[in-house]
Amino acid sequence: MFITKAPKENSMEELRKEIFDGLEPIEIVRKWFLEAKAVEPNDPDAVALSTVDSLGFPNVRMVLMRLILDDGFVFFTNYESVKASEILHNNKASFLYHWKTLRRQVRVRGEVFKEDSDLADQYFSERSLESRYGAWASRQSKMLPNKNLLHNKIEDLKKKLGNNPERPKFWGGFKLIPFEVEFWADGKYRLHDRFRWQREKIGENWTVSRLYP
Ligand SMILES: Cc1cc2nc3c(=O)[nH]c(=O)nc-3n(C[C@H](O)[C@H](O)[C@H](O)COP(=O)(O)O)c2cc1C
Repeated sequence: MFITKAPKENSMEELRKEIFDGLEPIEIVRKWFLEAKAVEPNDPDAVALSTVDSLGFPNVRMVLMRLILDDGFVFFTNYESVKASEILHNNKASFLYHWKTLRRQVRVRGEVFKEDSDLADQYFSERSLESRYGAWASRQSKMLPNKNLLHNKIEDLKKKLGNNPERPKFWGGFKLIPFEVEFWADGKYRLHDRFRWQREKIGENWTVSRLYP
């Protein structure tokens, strides 16, 4: 038995208007994100982030895209994790938002740069104290023989670091600056809408095209 769902109109009128108003794609992502935030019960900022390993194999995992800045998108992680070493080896990456309730996706491709400035310090200081100890304690992506080791390490760090631990140097942000952004919205009878923004290089002007679904 095939699963079918009721066709639903997901009007792109507003997006078309924004294109003609000359909005930058990152501004439109921000608008879509805010609409998603109003309806998605969990993690509307969750994205599937894809990097490539040294042999060229894609590698994908979820991260929370915490900041949408005027020039790019920032997530935070451990600089010694697999994803970080892949980015440091090859800074080309892509990520995908999928907002199920809105039936929309946004695909972004670009180049990634370390964001370990004051912004990372500020973001770290705003995390819960438990999460800050967690960031200190986790050797993300390395083998953990048993979970007690991690809990014990956190207890030791609490004593050592006190109540206001600073950001560890091995933890911080990465900013993806896009050269391609594609918006997809569900359409009736699978006649979906797709609009793709592209630019040759970061800093150059965008061109936008409609794509077949
Ligand atoms: C919804 C969701 C959000 C996540 N957000 C983050 C994040 O913001 N940063 C992070 O380092 N890991 C995050 N993770 C964990 C990653 O998916 C991944 O397991 C971890 O970062 C190790 O990935 P790596 O070995 O490829 O570096 C998240 C997982 C889920 C399911």
